[in-house]
Amino acid sequence: MHDDSIYQEIRDDAYTYGIGKTPLYRYNGPGFSVYAKLEYRNKFHSIKDRAAFFMIGRALRAGTLDKSKIIIEASSGNTGIAIASIARDLGYRAKIYIPNASSAETKSVLRSTGQEVVEVFDEASKRSSINIDSAVALLKEDMAKNPGKYVNFDQYSNDTNTNAHFYTTGPEAVQAVPEGFTHVVVSIGTGGTLTGLAKYFKKYSPDTRIIGVMPQPYHHIQGLKNLKVSRTPEILTKNMSLIDEWRDIDDLTPEKQFKDMIPLGLFVGLSSAANFYSAMKVGMENPGSRVLTVFPDSAEKYRANFISRGLLTAEEYDRYAHLLEADPKDCINLR
Ligand SMILES: Cc1ncc(COP(=O)(O)O)c(C=O)c1O
Repeated sequence: MHDDSIYQEIRDDAYTYGIGKTPLYRYNGPGFSVYAKLEYRNKFHSIKDRAAFFMIGRALRAGTLDKSKIIIEASSGNTGIAIASIARDLGYRAKIYIPNASSAETKSVLRSTGQEVVEVFDEASKRSSINIDSAVALLKEDMAKNPGKYVNFDQYSNDTNTNAHFYTTGPEAVQAVPEGFTHVVVSIGTGGTLTGLAKYFKKYSPDTRIIGVMPQPYHHIQGLKNLKVSRTPEILTKNMSLIDEWRDIDDLTPEKQFKDMIPLGLFVGLSSAANFYSAMKVGMENPGSRVLTVFPDSAEKYRANFISRGLLTAEEYDRYAHLLEADPKDCINLR
C-alpha cells in the first residue's frame, strides 16, 4: 500500500476514535486575525494525540508492533499520556520515561493509564526546568540492555510525527478558513507540529510564511525545547529549510499572556500562551494577515505549577476551571 493511502487510512481512524477535527478559535485583532486550533479538545487533551495515534497506526500497519512488544517512549508529558492511553485502549503495554520536572498532574494522569512510568532526575530538573535529554539517554540504555523487548517510535526522529500534522492539522485549518493563511507561527518541542504544517503549506500554499518559536534556554514551559541547550530533533534538522524565520520567547511573556487570555474564555497551558503572543505579534506587524497557530494543551495539568509560581491563587484557578470544558466565543467547528 502506498504511503499516502496508509496515512489517509490512519487519519480516518483517528477521526473515528476522537482525535483531530479540533475547533478553530478566531481572534480578530486590529487589522489582522489569529486562528488557533484548540488541541486540548483532542481525546486525551493535547496536540500530541495526533502524533501518538499516527505513530501507533503506522507501526501496526508495518508489523513492527505486536502484543509481544512494549512501546517505550521518552516524553515531557503529552506524548506519554497519548501513547499510554491509546496503547491501553488497543490492549498494548507502554513504558514512558518522563523528566521529574514535568508537572505533578501530568505524572498522575500518566500513572492513571495503568502503564509503566519511569521518572528521570537530571541536572536540568535541579534547576526545575524541563529537559528531555536525560530521559532519552536512560531509555536508550534500557533498550540496549533488553534487545527485542521494546518498540520505540522516537518522536524526535519519526517522520510520522511530522506527517500527522501534514495529513490532519494543516488540512483541517484550511477546511475551516478556505481563504488560507498568510503566516504559520508555532513553538517547538519535537518540532512535529511546525514541520508538519511547514510541509503542508510549502506544498499547497508556498507564500504562507512559516515561523518557528523557541523558548529561552532552561525555560519552564512544559513541552517545549530550546535548541541551544537541548539536542535538535532529527525531524527538525531534516526540515530546517522549510522554516522561514525563528523567533524567541522568554518565560515571563507567556505567563502574562496566559492571564490576558482568560477573559477571552481561554484557559490554556503556557506553550499555547507563547504561541498566541507570538502569533499576535506577527499579526500586528503585518496588516491584513491571517495567522495560524495551535493551542497544544489547556491549564488542566498545571494547577499546582501556576499556583506555586504565583500566576493564580487556588481560588482563581478553581473559578476559571469551567473554561476547560467550554468553547470560547468565535470558534469554527468541523465536527
Ligand atoms: C504542551 C506542549 N506544547 C507544545 C508542544 C510542541 O509540539 P511538537 O512536539 O509538535 O513540537 C508539546 C509537545 O510535546 C507540548 O506537550
